[in-house]
Amino acid sequence: MPDFFEIINAQRAIRRFKPDPVPQLLIEKLIEYATKAPSGSNKQPWAFVIVTEQDKKNKIAHWYHEGWVAVYESDPSRPRNAVYESALHLANHLHDVPVLIFPCITESNGRVPSFSSGASIYPAAQNLMLAATALGLGSVITTFHRRHENDVKALLGIPEEFTTSCMIPIGWPAEGEHFGGSKRKPVSEVIHYENW
Ligand SMILES: Cc1cc2nc3c(=O)[nH]c(=O)nc-3n(C[C@H](O)[C@H](O)[C@H](O)COP(=O)(O)O)c2cc1C
Repeated sequence: MPDFFEIINAQRAIRRFKPDPVPQLLIEKLIEYATKAPSGSNKQPWAFVIVTEQDKKNKIAHWYHEGWVAVYESDPSRPRNAVYESALHLANHLHDVPVLIFPCITESNGRVPSFSSGASIYPAAQNLMLAATALGLGSVITTFHRRHENDVKALLGIPEEFTTSCMIPIGWPAEGEHFGGSKRKPVSEVIHYENW
């Protein structure tokens, strides 16, 4: 088992995958570690939908690509850099990704989650991606499907009171993909003691 801090440093957006399937046992490990995350009042308002069927992935990939074009591709102010190339590849090949995971969240009163209540799902999503990294699996948190949220929910039979917080493609990293090396602002730039 790699060192915890090594895993944090290694975890990053992986968007190119081998076609090899991911054993169900490993997917269940990811969900097990996701559910170790905190949630408001420990309500654990989550559910995780695992998608591997090709016809479902084809439909989701089509909607995801539409979202990609609407949000990113049609916005010339977005830089055409390495992140763009990587995200473009995923948008064009999502149907080939072995597993798509939808971490879903509900509120007991049936309302759409707010910014703060929605925060009860993202620690679980991050746990899931850290666990994936520890197992050598690539992952990336994505949101372009959300323009077709209702279509995705209908396709996957997700109940009305649940929302897909994000979608996490999972698979073994393709040749040339690598963990680690993500670029981040230095701590000195983002830390404030007592006052901003
Ligand atoms: C809220 C959120 C939404 C994101 N949506 C997408 C997405 O729809 N598609 C995508 O390819 N990457 C998406 N990303 C991934 C980011 O582009 C990625 O985490 C960021 O570029 C850092 O990548 P790195 O860890 O490899 O440095 C999203 C990340 C976050 C946190």
